[in-house]
Amino acid sequence: MQQNTGIAITGSGSAVPTACLENQAMTALVETSDEWITTRTGIKNRRITSERESLSSLAAAASLKAIAMAGITAQDIDLILLTTSTPDDLFGSACQVQAALGANHAVAFDLTAACSGFLFGMVTAAQYIRTGVYQNVLLIGADILSRWVDWGDRTTCVLFGDGAGAVVMQASASDKLLGFELKSDGTQNHFLNLAYVPNTQELAPGITVSKGGYQAITMNGKEVYRFAVQKVPEVIDKALFRAHLSAEDIDWLLLHQANQRILDAVAQRLHVPKDKVISNLANYGNTSAASIPIALDEAVRCGKIKANDTIAASGFGAGLTWGAAIFKWGK
Ligand code: UT7
Repeated sequence: MQQNTGIAITGSGSAVPTACLENQAMTALVETSDEWITTRTGIKNRRITSERESLSSLAAAASLKAIAMAGITAQDIDLILLTTSTPDDLFGSACQVQAALGANHAVAFDLTAACSGFLFGMVTAAQYIRTGVYQNVLLIGADILSRWVDWGDRTTCVLFGDGAGAVVMQASASDKLLGFELKSDGTQNHFLNLAYVPNTQELAPGITVSKGGYQAITMNGKEVYRFAVQKVPEVIDKALFRAHLSAEDIDWLLLHQANQRILDAVAQRLHVPKDKVISNLANYGNTSAASIPIALDEAVRCGKIKANDTIAASGFGAGLTWGAAIFKWGK
């Protein structure tokens, strides 16, 4: 029997924390205004994870919905790929999600590529399917950046929010993943960090240990903005080229939700009309690896994205990393 090595994205799901922090509430924390945040970013609200919620519980809740939409069971899953920069456990949280789902046949591991995580994860998952190794992959993008934000730094704290999104990718006779391109540039790493800071302790004469911790997120917003507006259209063009398509063939432009001005500028450069740009930034802010799958899931569930629509998705962020994938939605 011929093995299916095409890829179909057959289910999506998302989950966000209950607590909603509005722009107005941010003015009590830092010197800012609803007007500044709205006009400079498009963000109105962000969801904040409480101590009763966790990355793995959000990821599992999103996954259950994606699995149900795909019409499979947790037992059918061969691989769980959790893309996150904020695991509950530094050793990884994918196995906790596996346990929560009862996906006992799945191998599970974390993948970190910041806000590009979901895109990098999609391409990684695709390789396992293409080679015929796995048939059903659960790909999750989840982040809780609120844990790592300096809530006294107005240049970053207004931007981020928490959430999780998931998709099921399945081996299929017809291939719906049409093209992709991934990029990294570590020379620009210093523009966006959640860095480890050592605290040196002497264990024995001449032997020290660096027993530190992670500092809050730091970002050179202007440089990251410039990078995104230049590199995202380029990488989408490259992915379109690989898919033998052009920008006119795109039904939906699905970008990492970092800033409405970035979404607008990228769409303008690609000559994609505004009504084809998916945006839910106002409700959630920048949810890092979760932003693309949450936006995808909402657009699918409200009937905007339909079966066989062509989607150009692009993620970009820390690393620096960026990438794009062109795929058709559904079985
Ligand atoms: O997910 C990873 C990818 N991340 C991104 O894509 C983020 C990319 N960068 C951006 O989206 C934008 O650069 C920001 C939204 C972060 C900042 O917007 P900007 O238009 O580049 O503002 P700016 O940094 O140039 O700041 C303009 C002014 C400054 O004041 P001065 O120096 O002109 O007096 C800031 O201090 O706005 C001030 N400012 C604020 N004012 C009120 C910065 N943050 C705030 C704030 N409220 N929250």
